[in-house]
Amino acid sequence: MLRISELHAAYGKANVLHGIELSVEPGQVVCLIGRNGVGKSSTMKAIVGEQITRTRGTVEFEGASLAGLRAHEVIRRGVGYVPEDRRVFASLTVLENLLVPRRVTHPDRHLWSVDEVFRLFPQLHDYRHRRAGVMSGGEQQMLSIARSLLTCPKLLLLDEPHEGLAPKVAEEVVDAILALKGEGVSMVISEQALNTVRRCADRVFVIDRGMTVWSGSVDEFYADPQITQKYLMVQ
Ligand SMILES: Nc1ncnc2c1ncn2[C@@H]1O[C@H](COP(=O)(O)OP(=O)(O)OP(=O)(O)O)[C@@H](O)[C@H]1O
Ligand SMILES: [Mg+2]
Repeated sequence: MLRISELHAAYGKANVLHGIELSVEPGQVVCLIGRNGVGKSSTMKAIVGEQITRTRGTVEFEGASLAGLRAHEVIRRGVGYVPEDRRVFASLTVLENLLVPRRVTHPDRHLWSVDEVFRLFPQLHDYRHRRAGVMSGGEQQMLSIARSLLTCPKLLLLDEPHEGLAPKVAEEVVDAILALKGEGVSMVISEQALNTVRRCADRVFVIDRGMTVWSGSVDEFYADPQITQKYLMVQ
C-alpha cells in the first residue's frame, strides 16, 4: 500500500532524513518509533509533502509515486494525516470542525459520514456544540482523528497521538485506533509509548538519526530487548 525506499529529505539546507525505509500492507498498523528528534514527524511530513522537501528516494502509494504532489492531492489519493499539534479550529464547535474537510468521494473507498464518526466517538457527539478550544487534549485528539476520517483515508498517519495525554485518556485513543483498524483503515503511528505498540502494531520500524535502523514484527521487536535499549532509552 505504502512503500518508501531510500528517502532523503531536508528543511531548506538542513538534511534530516538520510535513508528512510518503510512499508505498509493493506489493513496493517505500523509503528514508527525512535527517540526525540530522530525524524518521525519529518517522515510523515515527507509522505504528505508538507514543509519538508524530498531530495532522494521514492514514496509510492498504491503503486503510484507521490513525487511532486501537494498535500491536498496526497489526501485526495487516500492518505489522511493527523499532525502532532492536532490543528483543531479552537473557535469552532466540534460539529463545525467536522464540516470543514472537503469530502472526497471515490468508488472503492468507504465514505465516512459525520453520523458514523459520532458513532465511533460518542463523546464527540455529546460535545458537538462545544467549542473545540475548550476541550481537553484527549478530546481534541479524537476530534482531529475524526476530522481526518471525513477525507475517507485508506491510510492514516497519526503523529504521536498520545502525546500529553493522561494514561486513561491515552487508553481511549488506543481503543479508537483499534476500532479504526477493525474498520480496515491502515495506519502509520509515530509513537514513544511502548504500550500502544504492543496493543496496536503489526510491524515496527525503528528510526535513528534520520534512518530506518531496524524493522520487524511486534513479536520480533519484543523478543530483542537490546533494540529498545539501543534506540529508545535516553543515553
Ligand atoms: N521546520 C523545521 N525546520 C528545520 N529543522 C526542523 C524542522 N522541523 C524539525 N526539524 C529538525 O529535524 C529533525 C527531526 O525532527 P522531527 O520533528 O522529525 O523528529 P521526531 O522524531 O518527530 O521527534 P519528536 O519525538 O520530538 O517529535 C530534528 O533535528 C529537528 O530539529
Ligand atoms: Mg515528532
